[in-house]
Amino acid sequence: MKSSSRSIPRHIAIIMDGNGRWAKQRLQPRFMGHRAGVRAVEGIVKHCVATGVEVLSLFAFSSENWRRPGKEVNLLMELFSHALENQVKRLHKNNIRLNIIGDISRFSAPLQQQIADAMALTIENDGLILNIAANYGGRWDITQSVRQIANKIQSGELQPEQIDETLLASHLVTADLPEPDLFIRTGGEQRISNFLLWQLAYTELYFTEKLWPEFTAQDLDIAIESFSSRERRFGRTSEQLSGNEDA
Ligand code: IPE
Ligand code: IPE
Ligand code: MG
Repeated sequence: MKSSSRSIPRHIAIIMDGNGRWAKQRLQPRFMGHRAGVRAVEGIVKHCVATGVEVLSLFAFSSENWRRPGKEVNLLMELFSHALENQVKRLHKNNIRLNIIGDISRFSAPLQQQIADAMALTIENDGLILNIAANYGGRWDITQSVRQIANKIQSGELQPEQIDETLLASHLVTADLPEPDLFIRTGGEQRISNFLLWQLAYTELYFTEKLWPEFTAQDLDIAIESFSSRERRFGRTSEQLSGNEDA
C-alpha cells in the first residue's frame, strides 16, 4: 500500500471495545482481556506516530463504566495506574504529549496525582497528542463546557450573545485540537456509547468486528484506507467538491 496515495487522518478517535469477549473466547477472566488491551494500545500508538497522525483519542473508561461490577472497576483503575507507571517515560522519550480527558475528580487521590504528573511531564512535547478518555462522557463534556460559560456570564466576562458554536467548542476538553477525521470502534457494536458527541458531528465512522486486543497496525491501515476512499462533503454537493459546478 503506497502511503503517499492515501490521505492520513489528522485525528483518529477509537472506542477500544471487545476486551471482555476476547478473554471469554480464551476462557480467561475479563481482566486478562483488559491487560491484552493495554498491549494493543502500544502497537497502535507506535503506528500512529509512524504514519504521521497528529492526534489519537482512545476511549479507556466511560462515565457509564462505573456501573460494572466493583471488582472489575477496581482492576481497571489498577491497570490504568500501572500503565501510566510503565509507559509514561517511553511516551515522553518519543516526544508524545499525553492528555487525560474526562472527569478525573472521581479517581483516587494518588491516581489523580499520577495523571497530573504525566501530563505535566509531557506538556512541551510536540509529537503525537495522545488523548486518553478516562471517566469521559460526551454529555459530561458538553455540560462542563456550558457550566464554564455560565460562570463567565455570571461574572460579566461574557455576554449571552457571544455564545456560538466556536465558543462552546473552545470550552470542551478537546479545545484547540482538530475534530476527529476518523472514528473507529472495534468489537462489532455500532454505537457511539457517549464518546465525543459534539466533536464527531462530521467524523467518518468505521466499525470492525475485530476485538480490541487483536486490533493491529495492519487493521489500522485498513481503516485508514477506508477513510481515504470516502468523500467528505460537509453539506456540499459532490460536484462542488470536484470543481465541476460553481461553488
Ligand atoms: C472495552 O472492552 C474496555 C472497557 C470498556 C474498559 P469491554 O470490557 O467493554 O469488552 P466487551 O465489550 O465486554 O467484550
Ligand atoms: C465503550 O465501551 C467504552 C469504552 C470502550 C471505554 P462499552 O463496552 O462500555 O460500551 P457499551 O456499554 O457496549 O455501549
Ligand atoms: Mg464493551
